[in-house]
Amino acid sequence: MSNTIDNLLHEERRFPPTAEFAAQAVAGADLYERAKADRLGFWADQSRELLHWDKPFTKTLDWSNAPFASWFDDGELNVAYNCLDRHVLAGNGDRVAIHWEGEPGDSRSITYAELTAEVKRAANLLTSLGIHAGDRVAIYLPMIPEAVIAMLAVARIGAVHSVVFGGFSSESLRSRIDDASAKLVITADGGWRKGKVFPLKPAVDAALAAGDSTVENVLVVKRGGNDVEWTEGRDLWWHDELAQVDADHVAKPFGAEQPLFILYTSGTTGKPKGILHTSGGYLTQTAFTHRNVFDLHPETDVYWCTADVGWVTGHSYVVYGPLANGATQVLYEGTPDTPHQGRWWEIIEKYKVSLFYTAPTAIRSFMKLGRQIPQGFDLSSLRVLGSVGEPINPEAWMWYREVIGGGSTPIVDTWWQTETGAIMISALPGVTATKPGSAQTPLPGIVIDVLDDAGEHVGHGNGGLLVVTEPWPSMLRGIWGDPERFKETYWEKFGDKYFAGDGARLDEDGDIWLLGRVDDVMNVSGHRLSTAEIESALVAHPLTAEAAVVGASDETTGQAVVAFVIIKQSQQEVADSEDVAAVLRAHVAEQIGAIARPRQIFVVNELPKTRSGKIMRRLLRDVAEGREIGDTTTLADTTVMTIIQGKLK
Ligand code: WTA
Repeated sequence: MSNTIDNLLHEERRFPPTAEFAAQAVAGADLYERAKADRLGFWADQSRELLHWDKPFTKTLDWSNAPFASWFDDGELNVAYNCLDRHVLAGNGDRVAIHWEGEPGDSRSITYAELTAEVKRAANLLTSLGIHAGDRVAIYLPMIPEAVIAMLAVARIGAVHSVVFGGFSSESLRSRIDDASAKLVITADGGWRKGKVFPLKPAVDAALAAGDSTVENVLVVKRGGNDVEWTEGRDLWWHDELAQVDADHVAKPFGAEQPLFILYTSGTTGKPKGILHTSGGYLTQTAFTHRNVFDLHPETDVYWCTADVGWVTGHSYVVYGPLANGATQVLYEGTPDTPHQGRWWEIIEKYKVSLFYTAPTAIRSFMKLGRQIPQGFDLSSLRVLGSVGEPINPEAWMWYREVIGGGSTPIVDTWWQTETGAIMISALPGVTATKPGSAQTPLPGIVIDVLDDAGEHVGHGNGGLLVVTEPWPSMLRGIWGDPERFKETYWEKFGDKYFAGDGARLDEDGDIWLLGRVDDVMNVSGHRLSTAEIESALVAHPLTAEAAVVGASDETTGQAVVAFVIIKQSQQEVADSEDVAAVLRAHVAEQIGAIARPRQIFVVNELPKTRSGKIMRRLLRDVAEGREIGDTTTLADTTVMTIIQGKLK
């Protein structure tokens, strides 16, 4: 990997914006200067310009209780009002907010006036079910407009949503419900995926079957039309209930630091972290970045971010950023290859999408299929292309620009995380001369550095650890229920600087190249998975004595999950009569979700460990990637690797 990286760092290609693009761009180079001259003043100005504050703030940042930040603290606003009502009041009620495309081909365009009306009703419904400001609501939905409506309705009444990706298992859903003590679950009978209905309600039933849950009601949107079981008194049909509540609802302002959502993400231990985001700072930075990084002209652009609302990209760049900016966007329910491999390009042609945001893994899988597929569609409406979730290799970057972007469309490679809430590093499409493979520069108002282990700046041409050196508006406010873990994970290593968990290098121009995680977090198709979480799912199976999981590089998905397991002595006979790898792969999918299913499982007799008992994942990664095995001298038993390799041959 490091060889490839060295090659990447000598990238000579540059793509400056055309004069025509630069002339119409919303963001100019002056943004950097304004932010540099007065960083906090810059953010305060952005917040006032981009949002409606019912009560203006007088303080910008309070960092006296670091690392717990407070932004725009004495101001008051309503997040949903900012995403809805104010656009209607400004005369844009007839503008389409969402062009929704269902996988089977049904579609629906919803204007800002209609979306506002739906959210008002849903807010009344939540209140009638006893949901108050601060209460937690779990959302487990497919990519249908109701997902956006549910999130905004929760926000509108000052409650806190916890969206759980629909691909997660009932076990994962249950642990998230419990951790946040959710009172309500909003789900659907099922959604469409790969030409079939994918049931969701049964997973909610299974999650709640164990009893003793804090959930009082389950609201069910009808989408899949599949049969569902019903628990009287607990389960309610979304549409029936909505029909019974008042249509009008006045949004009440809440403090800028009112919690907005919790979103669980994988960390280095087996237990996912509930990342907490709040209102004013989060909405300021999502709106700012969405507008400037994508060069949004809300009157004319059609924007499409392909992320699911179950991930942070869906929160910030499907829901909050675009809607706060009054954008028109596409929301697509299904998979890229259903019913045919050109489905995405067909959608771009149909809605004349101009701003497109997706992940490198998707681009690489389209590359494999060949350019003839996208070339069968008219993609000439595109004018900015975005990438997120993992490093984009220059080859994929160039293909994206040439084949999808017609050789002229700027690409913005955006680095950020669930924890950062919004984009932190990216080109500005009307300003930056872009460089294939590098995320390049921190956005105006964001201060980032690359440090060595001792906390010293590495200097141009060197690698180290990525840190954010100054607090930013959309930063996480903590880990739900675990302030100690928050401090330990992000703030222990470099004191008052935020440690992101990513390796990075600065090239000779000072541009940033992201090198992937430096901890035990894997990145599979742009989704974060923890080695420890999958290991604990594996050892929970009766066959398994021990397990070690590594992320091995994969041409399409970036990384892939590869597991090494030791079978219990007592289970050897059972193991001999079964396809152990298949059984355990299915078990992981059931415990965590299909995204966590290992690509390969190797049954071994021993795992490589240091004398202190720590598994040396580095060596297993060598095996999984088919490389010569590195230095084994620190192993307690240096013969282990020879045995493992012998066994795999
Ligand atoms: C990785 C997704 C390189 C990184 C928004 C980070 C990236 C993790 C990029 C966060 C990028 C995200 N280039 N790596 N442009 N964007 N990453 O929380 O390792 O799901 O720490 O947030 O994805 O993943 P998360």
